[in-house]
Order: sequence, then C-alpha cells, then structure tokens
Amino acid sequence: MDLALNGKVAVVTGASRGIGRAVALALAGEGTQVACIATSADRAQATATACTDLGVKSIAYGVDVSDSQAVHDLARTINEEFDGVDILVNNAGITRDGVFMRMKEDDWDRVMDVNLKGAFNFTHALTRGLLKRGGAGRIINMASVVGLAGNAGQANYAASKGGLVSMTKSLAKEFGSRGVTVNAIAPGFIETDMTGEVPESHREMMTSAIALGRAGTPDDVASGVVFLASAAGAYVTGQVLVIDGGMRL
Ligand SMILES: NC(=O)c1ccc[n+]([C@@H]2O[C@H](COP(=O)([O-])OP(=O)(O)OC[C@H]3O[C@@H](n4cnc5c(N)ncnc54)[C@H](O)[C@@H]3O)[C@@H](O)[C@H]2O)c1
Repeated sequence: MDLALNGKVAVVTGASRGIGRAVALALAGEGTQVACIATSADRAQATATACTDLGVKSIAYGVDVSDSQAVHDLARTINEEFDGVDILVNNAGITRDGVFMRMKEDDWDRVMDVNLKGAFNFTHALTRGLLKRGGAGRIINMASVVGLAGNAGQANYAASKGGLVSMTKSLAKEFGSRGVTVNAIAPGFIETDMTGEVPESHREMMTSAIALGRAGTPDDVASGVVFLASAAGAYVTGQVLVIDGGMRL
C-alpha cells in the first residue's frame, strides 16, 4: 500500500519526547519532512536531528503552544522554510492533576491553554495554508481515553481532551468539503515521561485492566498517526481512533 507520505510536510507539536517524538520519527521514516515543535528549539533538536538522519528535511522550533501571537509568527516561518504544510499533529499536552475541590484556577487554566487552546492556535495559524494544498491536508489531534470517559482527579485534563474531540468533529464537518480530514487519537496508558510518575501499585492496576496485558508504547500511537496522515486514511474524518490495548472494553 502506498501511504503517499513521501515529500509531504508535517508539523508535530510536543515533539521533544514521548509520543510526539515517536510520531515525528515515524513520519520521517515514511519520507515526510518534519517541523519539530517543543517549548524550546533546544529540546526539539534531538528529534529533528534523528529525523534528518532518516534522510528528510527537519527543523526544530521552540514555542509555547498557548501563545497565539508566537504560534502565528512561527507558522509563517515554517510555511516559508518548508514551502507549505500538509499535516498538522497537535500533540503537545500537559497534566496538572488533583481532586476537583482542591484544584486551583491556575491548574484549570494552564491545562486548557496548552491542551485545547494550543491546538486551536496551531490549527488556526496553519489551516489557510493546508486548505490551499490541493485537498490532501490532515489534522490529527492527540486526545485521550479520559476525554471520552472522564477520570477522577483529572477534571481539567479530561475536559481539555473532551473539548479536543468536539473540536475535531466540528472541524471535520467544516473542512470536509475542502478535502482536509480532521481526526483525533485517544491513547490509553502509554509509557512516557508523562506517565512515569504513576506509582507502581496504580500502574499494576491499570495494566491489569488492559486486554492486551501491557501498557502502550509511543510507537503504538505513532502507527495510528501515520495511518490517519497517509493516503490510506483518506476517507476517514471526524473520528476518534482509540489506541488503548483494549483498556476501555
Ligand atoms: N502518555 C500517555 O499515557 C497519554 C495518554 C493519553 C494521551 N496522551 C497525550 O499525548 C500527548 C503526548 O503525551 P506524552 O506522554 O508524550 O507527554 P510528554 O510529557 O512526554 O511530552 C509532552 C510534549 O509536549 C511539549 N509541551 C508541553 N507543554 C508545551 C507547551 N506549552 N508548548 C509547546 N510544547 C509543549 C513538551 O515539550 C513535550 O515535547 C499529550 O497531549 C498527552 O495528553 C498521553
């Protein structure tokens, strides 16, 4: 099957580590040029270098995804340096967990700003260009299973991911006639720095609830992104691809 990703240009936010790094490398492995975004260019550099080692153009950029003006400025730079963008992966995300009655306003705002407004900012800044690319644009938003099912202690994070799912479906309807697909991925429990602080007892409990009997890897999630970004996913839009090893069955 021809994935037709060779020569395309992707922007991947949160590309310094974890799922974002795996996504950048998986796309680069298919011949896609990658703009790697993290909070600082230094942090994203190792991923960009690894992508370049795979034979594609890749540049590291630093921006806070919640900073609208900075994202729009960066989008202009990326469009110039890569001559347009075909694929946007809104992956950057944070957690600030806590029981609701003790959750501070700042914990709510910051998670919304990074996880939901960050995706709005990049989508807003790049969509005009994506729509002009001849009908094969792709937007992929990294949601979460807790955005579908909720989770005690994660009201802010779950709300941000639920919002991302609704934004995904709305934009799929809005951009469909222009040939741009918009989908979300809802990972379950994936081994990254974000989940590295989960206590061992909780980790065992979560793993035992997964049908496949193991936590996921960043590569498991990256495979889903490659499918949705590729020609193979051309007739899929407005969907949430759950990649959780059967955790929510
Ligand atoms: N790990 C999991 O189990 C899991 C499960 C479901 C969903 N997710 C989602 O997948 C995505 C990636 O998760 P991960 O586990 O790889 O996380 P991670 O903490 O390992 O990496 C997060 C990335 O986001 C970037 N980032 C954070 N805040 C940023 C900001 N303000 N501006 C720019 N970049 C910023 C970081 O630099 C880093 O590159 C997140 O959206 C997360 O919510 C993860």
